[in-house]
Amino acid sequence: MDFENKVYIVTGAGSGMGKSCCEKLLEKKAYVIGIDIQDSSIEHDSYKHYKANVLDEERIKTCVEEVEKTYGHIDGLVNAAGIFGNNKPFYELTTEEWNRVLSVNTTGTFIVSKAAAPAMIKNKRGKIVNISCIRSTIFKNNMADYAASKGAVASMTSAMALDLAPHNIQVNSVAPGFIYTGMTAASFDIPEVKAQSEALIPNGRLGKPEDIASVVLFLLSDMSDYVTGAMLFADGGYHIQK
Ligand SMILES: NC(=O)c1ccc[n+]([C@@H]2O[C@H](COP(=O)([O-])OP(=O)(O)OC[C@H]3O[C@@H](n4cnc5c(N)ncnc54)[C@H](O)[C@@H]3O)[C@@H](O)[C@H]2O)c1
Repeated sequence: MDFENKVYIVTGAGSGMGKSCCEKLLEKKAYVIGIDIQDSSIEHDSYKHYKANVLDEERIKTCVEEVEKTYGHIDGLVNAAGIFGNNKPFYELTTEEWNRVLSVNTTGTFIVSKAAAPAMIKNKRGKIVNISCIRSTIFKNNMADYAASKGAVASMTSAMALDLAPHNIQVNSVAPGFIYTGMTAASFDIPEVKAQSEALIPNGRLGKPEDIASVVLFLLSDMSDYVTGAMLFADGGYHIQK
């Protein structure tokens, strides 16, 4: 997989899977531009960090324009910024709580993809990888907000793939399972929760951010040029069991 001197934008770059994607791309000598509402601890000559909210459309547009001006092209985008749901039954959610999850996870993915797509269209090639979730298709109670946001990411991915197929741009999503990150550490640090979760995973362990970053890099690489509109499960086999 050749990433040398290629240019990638990664949202959610401050933590977890987004950060791991940045690190793996940097190892492979790519230029990486991270976007996150928090700072980044990555220090590398080929890394630039923008502290920005994916919902701030004007700011995102400016960041992407700056990237294109600096590097001349954009080879790929990873939409990993996201938040967990409010952990309540849907009938107890306020519309404000609902909108917040849908906004960050779904509208944020739309905003950054919309900003980055023109540069890839101009370049006549590109890759977009959206982070969805097993909860887009396999449900649990108290997750209506999160499930809706990730289901929308999955279906939007396929629809975006059709819009961009004539431009030689592939758009795919990854559906991670139980991954130990900043989002989940507080639960998985409780030994009983970790043990219960691991018991549900055929591979027998929680995922690591690197497990997801490896799949993302495959989807960013030319090895996946004939894959578009797909959702790839990376869940240790969780979704295949009854
Ligand atoms: N951890 C899991 O088990 C799991 C499973 C499936 C899917 N996911 C999804 O994976 C993605 C990455 O999550 P993670 O687990 O690495 O969590 P994480 O909390 O470690 O990382 C998410 C990052 O997104 C950033 N972010 C949140 N809102 C933002 C905004 N409005 N603008 C810019 N940045 C913002 C956060 O600051 C954080 O750095 C998320 O979309 C999440 O929903 C996580």
